[in-house]
Amino acid sequence: NVKACIFDLDGVIVDTAKYHYLAWRRLAEMLGFEFTEKDNERLKGVSRVRSLEILLEVGNIDATPEQKEKWAHDKNEWYVDYITKMGADEILPGVVPFLVELRQKGIKTAIGSASKNANLILSRLGLMSHFDAIIDGNKVSAAKPDPEVFVAAANVLGVSPEHSVVFEDAEAGIEAAKAGGMFAVGVGSDQILAKADVVIGSLADLNYEKFMCLLNVK
Ligand code: G6P
Ligand code: MG
Repeated sequence: NVKACIFDLDGVIVDTAKYHYLAWRRLAEMLGFEFTEKDNERLKGVSRVRSLEILLEVGNIDATPEQKEKWAHDKNEWYVDYITKMGADEILPGVVPFLVELRQKGIKTAIGSASKNANLILSRLGLMSHFDAIIDGNKVSAAKPDPEVFVAAANVLGVSPEHSVVFEDAEAGIEAAKAGGMFAVGVGSDQILAKADVVIGSLADLNYEKFMCLLNVK
C-alpha cells in the first residue's frame, strides 16, 4: 500500500518544460544551430550542467569551462525571466485536487526535482503548502537517472521505497524511480515512458480511486 507520492516538478506539476525548451533553443540559436523539440526530449529531467553538455553535443560545439559556465548562467537568466511571470493558471490540470485528496487519505506528498529553481516556482504558484517535503537540485548531487533525489524524499517522509510512488514525465526520471525500487507512474506519452509501471496522460486523469485501481492493475 502507498504511503508516499513523490512528484517530479517540471512537466508533471507545472508546464515549465516549454520554458526550459525556449531558453535552451535561444542559446542554440545564439551559438548558430537549430535545437529541435526532439533533441529537447533528452534534456528532460536532466540537470542544468548535463543539459548544456547534451546541447553542445547536438550542436557539435567545443567549449571551455568558462564558456560553459557563462552559457548555463545565461540560459538560467532567460528561464527565470519566464518563470517569474508564471501564474497559478500554469499549474497543470488535476494537480491541486489530487494533492489535496492524497493528503486527506493520509498519503504524504513530496517534490523530487533536479531543478535548482524548484522553491521559486512552487512559491510563485502558491503550491509550497501542498508538499510535506521538497527535495530539489540544491539538495542532491547525483542527477536522475540516479535515484538519489527520490530516495532522499522518501527518507525525509520516513517511508520505504516499496511504499512510495513516483510521478515523472522524463525517461531519466522513470529510470531513477525504478532504480530506487519505487513504483513509477509515467505522465505523458507511453512511447517515451515505456519503462514506467503505468502511464497516464496527465494528473487530470486521476483521482484517489482511479489511482488505487492503477496500482492494482500492475
Ligand atoms: C528539471 C527539468 C530539466 C532541467 C532541470 C534543472 O529536471 O526537467 O529540464 O534542466 O530540472 O533545472 P534548473 O531549474 O536547475 O535549471
Ligand atoms: Mg520533468
